[in-house]
Amino acid sequence: MHWLEKHVAKALKERKSPLSFEEAAELIGRDVGSVAKASLWLRNKGLIDVEERERKIFSLGEEGRIYAEQGLPEKRLVEELEKAGGELELDSLREKLGEKTFRIAISWAKRRGWISIEKAPRGAVARLVELASRPKVLEVKIVRTHLMKPTEKLMALPDELLEEEEVTKLTRELLATGKWRKVKFSKFDIRAPTPPVFASKRHPLRELIKLVREIFVEMGFEEIRGPLVELAFWNFDALFQPQDHPAREMHDTFYLAEPEKGELPRKLVPPIKRVHEDGGDTGSTGWGYRWSAEEARRLLLRTHTTATTIRYLAEHRDPPVKVFSVDRIYRNERTDWKHLAEFHQIEGIVMGENVSFRDLLGLIKEFYNRLGLKNVKFRPSYFPYTEPSAEAVAYLEDKKTWLELIGMGIFRPEVTRPLGIKHRVLAWGGGLERLALALYDLDDIRTFYNNDLNWIRSVPSAFLKKKIGIV
Ligand code: PHE
Repeated sequence: MHWLEKHVAKALKERKSPLSFEEAAELIGRDVGSVAKASLWLRNKGLIDVEERERKIFSLGEEGRIYAEQGLPEKRLVEELEKAGGELELDSLREKLGEKTFRIAISWAKRRGWISIEKAPRGAVARLVELASRPKVLEVKIVRTHLMKPTEKLMALPDELLEEEEVTKLTRELLATGKWRKVKFSKFDIRAPTPPVFASKRHPLRELIKLVREIFVEMGFEEIRGPLVELAFWNFDALFQPQDHPAREMHDTFYLAEPEKGELPRKLVPPIKRVHEDGGDTGSTGWGYRWSAEEARRLLLRTHTTATTIRYLAEHRDPPVKVFSVDRIYRNERTDWKHLAEFHQIEGIVMGENVSFRDLLGLIKEFYNRLGLKNVKFRPSYFPYTEPSAEAVAYLEDKKTWLELIGMGIFRPEVTRPLGIKHRVLAWGGGLERLALALYDLDDIRTFYNNDLNWIRSVPSAFLKKKIGIV
């Protein structure tokens, strides 16, 4: 129950009899509008009854106010006549009462039989009828006038007046008649607190993930997923990363303490060992060290989703292969505005009979174009598992900076041969959150993980699609 409802319900309970909104407002020390709101909620929950009563409010018009102060014209006329001993010339009465009042007074006094108009040598005079034969109604009228009993003529129902005492809803009638404009805030407070309503929607980051999925699927890809807890074998060794590679050290990679190690895919151990030690049949010399199966058995939180695509490749050695993944990865990073220890990567591979590096560039360009990034450029790069390697960047017009999008390349023979793959494999992988930063125009990557409801609510649903112009 909202606290306002509680207050209103409590006031009603204590009073034990019906309360008007105004009374309730006074009792709980809030404005009438708030009470009206609370009562509506309470009624909707079936907790209270609200009855609308009509009340007509009359107030004195301008004329009425004057008469209430000075008395009715005919009464003033009678008083003037009494002061003058029962008779006065019409001209001097007109002077005393003013033209307007004088005319009204004469006409009513005559009609009631209080005066008679007589001709006199100096002009017409008004003469008071003898008290004894004067109709009694005089007294009554005067008393009533003092009580300000409204008569039709004197009172005007202000057309602003809203007749319903308790307005709780903006009804069709109020709107149609235009009465809503005349409702005073004290009766119908459109600023009264209401519980905010938030339509459910995806988290902005999930919105981007969904969009990435849709784009890949539209481009003919299938989604794959792999384990978060991964063997060093798949995360590093199968990708021809030497076992003394700095990225494998504790300060970059989260290794598992328990269980510490997993089982290697036995058939792949000899070819991977060979390629690391002397290059095997790839024509390269390898790394020239003794490869340790124990090191490859270590379990870790995958540091990139390339672990997932290489796993998939080992099981799918024949073309065509066209898969992607958008998933979580982990790196032992100090968290700051552009770093997180747990984040997402966009990853994909294409294996085909005749795929080329140009296909890869075209594909990546197309993908980011569809995400609304039109100015995509490539520059050479290095990864231990691809040759050639490149990096895609996009120019952000509003920020006047280049955004690193994704790393890519063609898997080296040192990667594909040991797995028994005979065709070219185009591969790419890159961060999701930094892309999200640019698309949502933010400057701190942690925004996505702070669970700041105000921010989450402030991002309109389908924001990205609207921005890109898909919807
Ligand atoms: N795995 C690389 C990264 O984490 C990206 C990459 C994937 C590069 C596939 C080339 C090929 O940055």
